[in-house]
Amino acid sequence: MSAFRTIWTTEDKYVEVIDQRKLPHEWVVEKLITYKDAERAIKDMVVRGAPLIGATAAYGIYLAAREGANMEEAFEDLRLSRPTAVNLFWALDRMKAKLANASDLVQTAWEEAARIVEDDVETCRMIGVHGLPLIEELSRKKNGETVHILTHCNAGMLGCIEWGTITSPIYQAIQKGIKVHVWVDETRPRLQGANLTCYELTRHEVPHTLIVDNQGGHLMQHGMVDMCIVGTDRTTRQGDVANKIGTYLKALAAHDNHIPFYVALPSTTLDMTIRDGLKEIPIEQRNQNEVRYVVGKSKISGQLDEVLICPETTQASNYGFDVTPARLVTALITERGVCSANEEGLLELFPEYK
Ligand code: MRU
Repeated sequence: MSAFRTIWTTEDKYVEVIDQRKLPHEWVVEKLITYKDAERAIKDMVVRGAPLIGATAAYGIYLAAREGANMEEAFEDLRLSRPTAVNLFWALDRMKAKLANASDLVQTAWEEAARIVEDDVETCRMIGVHGLPLIEELSRKKNGETVHILTHCNAGMLGCIEWGTITSPIYQAIQKGIKVHVWVDETRPRLQGANLTCYELTRHEVPHTLIVDNQGGHLMQHGMVDMCIVGTDRTTRQGDVANKIGTYLKALAAHDNHIPFYVALPSTTLDMTIRDGLKEIPIEQRNQNEVRYVVGKSKISGQLDEVLICPETTQASNYGFDVTPARLVTALITERGVCSANEEGLLELFPEYK
């Protein structure tokens, strides 16, 4: 579907990723040669987004096998690279299970990591197939006028491999000729909306407008948003979702204005071992300098630069994610269909978790 993927292998059987910290200003490819490279890429957000974190960790295990690293240590180090997105643990568990009885660790890890990548592409495509009718329905209700969709963070192809989760229904709607416009939250502090979502929507020629994070409520009050779609890093058995910090506030505003609030997710983001997202999902806290400084292309030097936006001595708090309770989620869009954000709905689509 897309002109590029977010992770790929090279002729000499190493792994390459895009350094997403530099987008949209610079296209820099990073080669991952050791599992420590994969660990650092996840930790430092060279790659980010739940499915891509999982895929990178899977290839990290392949690299560990290839370099003859201590596999227990590699699993443990990768496990500790980021805490919230459950895809990381899902991918590592899948790799561990596959390698348990493997006679050729390197070849088995290579093949399994590739399968994880291919599965994600198909999963995201199917999220689009199931999400598309929701957009079509709104378009019909509006007699073909533009459907305005608000999103937060980047849950597009850059957070996955191809298609993306929230962008898959959007790309498929555009392909069908439905008029769509996306309001993109800038998503402070790491600006995944401004830097990444705007970048990929531009490349796919999707009409969009960047907004500051605080603008969504106003737009909703004035009938300028038809639906919200966000991604998730972990979805619990009762349908609570953890996503980028600020998602909860958008869900509240959507609820108050009777605007549907959808969450698009691959089932790799389900954590059916926990129920209460508020109590049980570990929320990442990142370095305060991500809040104190803004990173962007300098008007003066034309180079990427960091700018301090508060007094030198001011301390900042930096929770990376928040939890949106299931009661604020209109429905979950998965690769198997659309369901209510509750245990019943999830079990209907995923009976294997009964
Ligand atoms: O900190 P990030 O950039 O990894 O956070 C990403 C998100 O919150 C995404 O919305 C989520 O991972 C879904 S990606 C399809």
